[in-house]
Amino acid sequence: MFKYCALIDIVSFLSLVDQFEKLDSLSVMPRPYFNHSIEFKKKVTREERIAALEKAGLNVFYFPSEMVTGCDLLSDSGTTTMTNEQWAALHQGDEAYGSNKGYFMLMEQIRETFGETFSNEPHLNRPNAFLFHQGRPCEDALFSIIGKLGDDLVIPSNGHFDTTQANIEANNIKAVNLFSQELHDKDSKSKFKGDMDIEKYKRLLAKSYEKIPLTYLTITNNTGGGQPVSMRNIQEISEISHEKNIPLFLDASRFAENAWFIKKYEKGYSKKRIEEIVKEMFSYADGFTTSFKKDGLVNMGGGLFIKEKGLFMKKYPEIPDRLMNYQIIKEGHPTYGGLSGRDIMALCVGLRTVIKEEYLDYRMAQVHDFGEKMKNANIPVLTPIGGHAVYLDVNRFFEDTDMKAEEFGGISLTALLLAVYGHRSCELGYFAFGSYNKKTGKEEFPEVNFVRFAIPRLRYEQKDLDSVVEAVKILYEQRDKIPGVKVVFGKDLTLRHFKARFEFLASN
Ligand code: F0G
Repeated sequence: MFKYCALIDIVSFLSLVDQFEKLDSLSVMPRPYFNHSIEFKKKVTREERIAALEKAGLNVFYFPSEMVTGCDLLSDSGTTTMTNEQWAALHQGDEAYGSNKGYFMLMEQIRETFGETFSNEPHLNRPNAFLFHQGRPCEDALFSIIGKLGDDLVIPSNGHFDTTQANIEANNIKAVNLFSQELHDKDSKSKFKGDMDIEKYKRLLAKSYEKIPLTYLTITNNTGGGQPVSMRNIQEISEISHEKNIPLFLDASRFAENAWFIKKYEKGYSKKRIEEIVKEMFSYADGFTTSFKKDGLVNMGGGLFIKEKGLFMKKYPEIPDRLMNYQIIKEGHPTYGGLSGRDIMALCVGLRTVIKEEYLDYRMAQVHDFGEKMKNANIPVLTPIGGHAVYLDVNRFFEDTDMKAEEFGGISLTALLLAVYGHRSCELGYFAFGSYNKKTGKEEFPEVNFVRFAIPRLRYEQKDLDSVVEAVKILYEQRDKIPGVKVVFGKDLTLRHFKARFEFLASN
């Protein structure tokens, strides 16, 4: 009977459907990629997880990753799932001891991504690009050299990452964090809570600009809730610093995510391509360090890059050679640094993928959705949701309970979430960033108290993350029964969250 029907083409059909708008923008969008290779998780019971965590002294870093049956949100660093193009590129790795082919490709890619002036051609006569095996050795190289420039030096930042701060302090330099006022204001509508507080910075400059060898901006601001930094702030900090002859460095580990926020929320950028925004961000900086384990989309890699005609190069012309000496002694020949040829190849591809809008749109929507679901479940999280992670506010989580600050509720929460539900997160708060004052016998607390749920790139599906929300919600509903912890080892150590052990306190 159908043969008597008139035919209709698809476009005409759609014009008949009044819900066409809705068809075009489904509330659940498919991922812009599909699984290329997957790994089944080991079967582990709750009892086995509890035993393993107790053996690890409730320290989630020592919990065997094979036993994480839920989502492993300990870090978004080095946990990226690589694309098939990256796996193919690995095979083309050139493991020569000097000047492997990937090195030249990477230098070209650095110029293409960050701007011409961050890697010289020919490089070795005027070195300004230094490869390291990850982010922290870049910091060690830079600050161990800077630290010798004088006494009582200060390096301000919008929020130093913990290893950055530790590397600064290890070289007798004072690390200062100038978080924006908005960061702690839950009613603030600011989209750029990662900005450096300009007034605080000006006050610091007025007092001690001669003591500042360089200023840092971390984009996005990991310690400050993964919040982005506006172009305006980067530009203003650069100008104010340059007026005082202070170079500006970026910690650029999550540069692409920061650029996405600028495109999305900053006036005048919505029509610009991510590539252009990245170049503009870096045009204000005199150099940058980065961990490629984040927005390089690789499992290992880092680098330190100095702008050829920038203020840093002009002010410290002797430093590049010292950096190269450091690199040769500690990491390897400057043409591979701390990286194998295959890692370099995967990184070249990763840097091209990470700025693709379809990648960034989905990535940022995934993190945002996860955070919004937490918020809708009344779980107190930092808003707006940051770039790579969702940050639960531990103080607000426990505010109507008897949990004391020195009982580290954030540690209890991460331990229970892992033992009971198999999801791993990380305390970045009173324990990780606080310290024990041996003289007073008291804990000293930092400004921020978070549990961080960092989302590995290209790894989990939305359902996986929904399961985390559900588990945290149950724990939130039971928050008055969650016991605090006693630190049974390591409370007075530096970087103590990586080393300490805890036990739950029995309720009175
Ligand atoms: N800078 C920032 C902003 C970081 O987030 C990290 C690492 C580093 C530097 C150091 O890089 O690990 O390659 O040596 N952050 C990870 C995290 C570890 O979980 O946030 P790395």
